[in-house]
Amino acid sequence: MPFRNLDQADLAGKRALVRVDFNVPMADGAVSDDTRLRAAMPTIAKLRAGGAKVILLAHFDRPKGVVVPSMSLAPVAGPLAKVLGVAVTFVDDCIGPPVAAAVAAMAPGGVLLLENLRFHKGEEKNDATFAAALAANGDLFVNDAFSAAHRAHASTAAIAHILPAYAGEAMRRELDALEAALGSPKRPVLGIVGGSKVSTKLDLLNNLVAKLDYLAIGGGMANTFLFAQGHDIAASFAEKDLAPTAREIMAEAKAKGCELLLPIDVVVAEKMEPGIPSRTCDLDQLTPADRILDAGPRSAARLMAAMDTAKTLIWNGPLGVFEIPPFDAATTAAARHAAALAKAGSLIAVAGGGDTVAALHHAGVADDFTFVSTAGGAFLEWMEGKSLPCVAALQV
Ligand code: 3PG
Repeated sequence: MPFRNLDQADLAGKRALVRVDFNVPMADGAVSDDTRLRAAMPTIAKLRAGGAKVILLAHFDRPKGVVVPSMSLAPVAGPLAKVLGVAVTFVDDCIGPPVAAAVAAMAPGGVLLLENLRFHKGEEKNDATFAAALAANGDLFVNDAFSAAHRAHASTAAIAHILPAYAGEAMRRELDALEAALGSPKRPVLGIVGGSKVSTKLDLLNNLVAKLDYLAIGGGMANTFLFAQGHDIAASFAEKDLAPTAREIMAEAKAKGCELLLPIDVVVAEKMEPGIPSRTCDLDQLTPADRILDAGPRSAARLMAAMDTAKTLIWNGPLGVFEIPPFDAATTAAARHAAALAKAGSLIAVAGGGDTVAALHHAGVADDFTFVSTAGGAFLEWMEGKSLPCVAALQV
């Protein structure tokens, strides 16, 4: 999947319109986590070093096409300047004469942040006229917002067909990692899909069983599969109406040669609460009030053995209720094992999705994975095998 990147762009003196994802957590009107600002640094640095004017396009929250003052990007300019170590000028619109004037006044290497794109209705409508108004202030377009790539909006999709379009450095890293994990992976490939509901991950499971050698299912969704296999899951959460769907997925996995790894032992308690008494048992040892809250140690050991055999791991969703110890044990053990293998160079370990990233941080190993995507919806849609329109627009 080759795509245009900044090494191929002529940057000197050019006006670079850069789509970033600055949809950052805010508390009391101030940025409370600057991860997404730091993620944009390599692209901004490369453009500045090449002598381009850097004009940042971003959305914040969901103002639905009207100006909502509390959703302004103005509070982002200060923290961004701090992260970059350069002055950042803010313009309180993203199109029109004020933007044109600010761009004209910029020196090469300067950085401009424009107001929330979603204050204009044309943004989410992927409107060609709005995209042309954005494009009027640039010579080239750089998309560095993988986490917004599942949205075909004017600043991510339409604009890429008006100006020469390139993947930014963060986008490039993300696409390279994803290609290595699912596009043309080193086999065997092991997937881990966890989380509570099968219903939200049907497309994902159907795509993965066709592509993976092993698929471990964990979290609440494993209960639905265990129930579908005829196990008594006692008072555990499950989507029992999806038992036929789970059976279809199991049959499809068998037909496609994907070995499913469901829990063989579990950790149970009567409530999902900190400090609640819990015990580890086999699947046929549940009593009526038991709720399955984690995979057991034998299940975790079998998963780790699969990791030892695998060359590539792709992980989305925790194996248990990792937020409430001791129900974090299987997720933490598996995460640490994967991280150790990745560090030793024997496993390409890629993970993504909000809960997964939190679980890896909880286990203290997020930095040791080969790649951790902080994109939520975009990562999931990519794992589901859907084509992301904004990424397609960057392909050569
Ligand atoms: C995100 O924060 O996941 C992206 O910026 C997308 O935001 P959205 O779900 O409001 O489109």
